[in-house]
Amino acid sequence: MNDLGLDGSVAIVTGAGSLAPGIGNGKAAAVLLAEAGAKVMLVDRSLDNMKETLELIAERGGDCVPVTADVSDEAGCAGVVASAMDTWGRVDVLVNNVGTAGPAGTVVDVAVDAWDACLRVNVTSMLLMSRFAIPHMRAAGAGSIVNISSVLGMRGGHPAIAYPTTKAAIIGLTKSMAVHHGPDGIRVNAVAPGFAYTPMVYAQGLSEENRERRRLAAPLHTEGTGWDTGEAVLFLASDRSRWMTGTVLVVDGGLTASAGMTGDMSVTARDTP
Ligand SMILES: NC(=O)c1ccc[n+]([C@@H]2O[C@H](COP(=O)([O-])OP(=O)(O)OC[C@H]3O[C@@H](n4cnc5c(N)ncnc54)[C@H](O)[C@@H]3O)[C@@H](O)[C@H]2O)c1
Repeated sequence: MNDLGLDGSVAIVTGAGSLAPGIGNGKAAAVLLAEAGAKVMLVDRSLDNMKETLELIAERGGDCVPVTADVSDEAGCAGVVASAMDTWGRVDVLVNNVGTAGPAGTVVDVAVDAWDACLRVNVTSMLLMSRFAIPHMRAAGAGSIVNISSVLGMRGGHPAIAYPTTKAAIIGLTKSMAVHHGPDGIRVNAVAPGFAYTPMVYAQGLSEENRERRRLAAPLHTEGTGWDTGEAVLFLASDRSRWMTGTVLVVDGGLTASAGMTGDMSVTARDTP
């Protein structure tokens, strides 16, 4: 037993694999939840992408079942929740982690079909998974949903319009869901990771120079990993955050704490007598 309150619980983690070898956000969350005693339904559209997650959970003596599904598809989401209910008879935790980088382009030139597809995968998938999980949580009088946003949903500065818009929408979704479902004992929170070094990032090709720039952009000058996101998910899924709902837990090495002012931009030194 442990005081996280997750022993014997059932968790669903979407995007529990990763696009390349290494530790992604969903993979880390799934491994940490299993290690804390949850039975974890691993969801990914690719079984191959979940192999490493399965191995890590087995090494740590955890319990999990992989399911292949596309969470942008309503029937796929219904099937995942039905499968968790058939297997374990309950759903206590839902981690909505799936998210894609989306198309390039500003509002002037982004391809509208690709914009629609990005909203579907990054935001509608969370609505659909929650739609099927919440009735079971409501019946049990408790549940915890964790949605993965991004600091890019809190600040401008991304070169494209689609990805940051979806990540901002997830923050609005989270707060509204928290208010709608709080009276049923269901908590809904978001994690906003910063510039972590994960397979999603390096699978698309990231030079060592740009990796270093990402590390140095945050005041801590420490590179973030999927484990950092996973620990925040674990906390929000667990009883340790029992009085928290509608929050956005920022995990970014201090990136969003800074307004970006450097000494020579400040007037304080000149004007203060
Ligand atoms: N890495 C970062 O720096 C960073 C920063 C902020 C937020 N995020 C967010 O973290 C989340 C992803 O993290 P990750 O590290 O686990 O990513 P990842 O891309 O490595 O893995 C996600 C998995 O999701 C699966 N997937 C993609 N679309 C799917 C779909 N429609 N249905 C089912 N599975 C699907 C992929 O097959 C992949 O295995 C995203 O929401 C992303 O926006 C990442």
